[in-house]
Amino acid sequence: MTENSLQPRLRLGVNIDHVATIRNARGGDHPDPVRAAQIVAQVGGDGITAHLREDRRHIRDEDLKRIQDATDLPLNLEMAATDEMLEIALRHVPNAACIVPENREERTTEGGLDAVGQHNRLVPIVTALKDKGIRVSLFIEAEAAQLEAAMRLGADIVEFHTGEYAHAIGDARAAELKRIADMSALAVKNGIEPHAGHGLTYENVQPIAAIPQLAELNIGHYLIGEAVFTGLEPAVRRMRELMDDAR
Ligand code: PXP
Repeated sequence: MTENSLQPRLRLGVNIDHVATIRNARGGDHPDPVRAAQIVAQVGGDGITAHLREDRRHIRDEDLKRIQDATDLPLNLEMAATDEMLEIALRHVPNAACIVPENREERTTEGGLDAVGQHNRLVPIVTALKDKGIRVSLFIEAEAAQLEAAMRLGADIVEFHTGEYAHAIGDARAAELKRIADMSALAVKNGIEPHAGHGLTYENVQPIAAIPQLAELNIGHYLIGEAVFTGLEPAVRRMRELMDDAR
């Protein structure tokens, strides 16, 4: 953000799942995602995102409290809409819970949550989270029908899935970008805070970061990958600079 800009700072939430992926490859306790969370805090990241998957392939139950105890940064817990995950979220009371679709076979979260089709399943989960004071975020495609469903459910936040944008090239990418920008504007108009994430890199982050209504980006895999070469601190700093320059 430039000094004269009236736009609020775009927050950067760092997803530290893949530090745990590397840890789990050897079954020990190194590298520790808690150390990553502490570095993110030191370097001015705005939040920690972690996805506790049903199969615990990266973040594990015991990591959540350790992450919460290690920094003052808000925790954004990504979770599937299951009774098990709801119980865990209610026990840990993260700042936000981001409800994501989850297929056991997928390599990563493929596509957004079907907030339209899953309405009845989501109502009690969203209600229980909100009653506990947890901000509810729904990870959806940037589509009007999904946004309207999120509004009906009373979500505080929608996170738009940027996977299609990240993979597209040329006109297709421009069309994806427009879709995300239009839906971000519509979200704000309706009192919902728009976030975005998935597949963002140094190369593709700036057009997304330039969307003025977006309040937060959540970025993981690329940053942890870059951290292998440069260290996590320079990687987060570089992403932060690119985001700020885009505004
Ligand atoms: N936001 C959500 C809801 C996600 O599920 C993920 C991936 O776990 C991300 C953001 C981060 O995506 P990536 O790791 O591709 O940066």
